[in-house]
Amino acid sequence: MTGACGYVGEVTPTLQTAAPLIPPRPTLPKLQEAAAGCTACDLYKSGTQTVFGDGPREAEIMLVGEQPGDKEDLAGEPFVGPAGQLLDRALVAAEIDRTQVYVTNVVKHFKWEARGKRRIHKKPNMAEITACKPWLEAELAVVKPTALVCLGATAAQALLGKDFRVSTQRGELVDSELADLVTATIHPSSILRGPPEEREKAFRGFADDLAKVAQQLRA
Ligand code: URA
Repeated sequence: MTGACGYVGEVTPTLQTAAPLIPPRPTLPKLQEAAAGCTACDLYKSGTQTVFGDGPREAEIMLVGEQPGDKEDLAGEPFVGPAGQLLDRALVAAEIDRTQVYVTNVVKHFKWEARGKRRIHKKPNMAEITACKPWLEAELAVVKPTALVCLGATAAQALLGKDFRVSTQRGELVDSELADLVTATIHPSSILRGPPEEREKAFRGFADDLAKVAQQLRA
């Protein structure tokens, strides 16, 4: 049945930004609770749940990825699937304790398309990134990390500007008000997607970039 205002049934209109959903005097638990009901873009319709950041409020290091994957969407936690396991190994190699790191994503719902029975990752678009960004800004404001590390191009471009190129600028310290130490490196998924014979070298490069952050924090 079409209603007087022209739409059929109960359609929840999507906001275009999560900004109005940010609670006053935010804390991580308050943000997580508010984000669970986020409808700022359409991704909430196909994702299982909001996957909010995870880690201690006192974390010195914040790692930011692109968006949750299939496993994260089901578990409700960031970086617990194959890319997360690779990240865990790289953090161990870099002598960084993951339990002391705050890990999050630019976009907090899984964007995917069906291929047979599989849900294949789809890159978030600018509208989705923009809609979701207030959550990340609020996480940054609460955690106030000393070091901010963008994992991959989506995070780097969302936080460091659209001209940032991970391929040429990875590992460089970026002048930014977001944290004292701001840098970007590759996304662990890119290692898994790359040719098997190049994985070991790519992994070492990734772990080295993270180790440099740990060294700079100790300096
Ligand atoms: N890739 C990401 O960018 N984030 C996750 O949480 C998992 C995979």
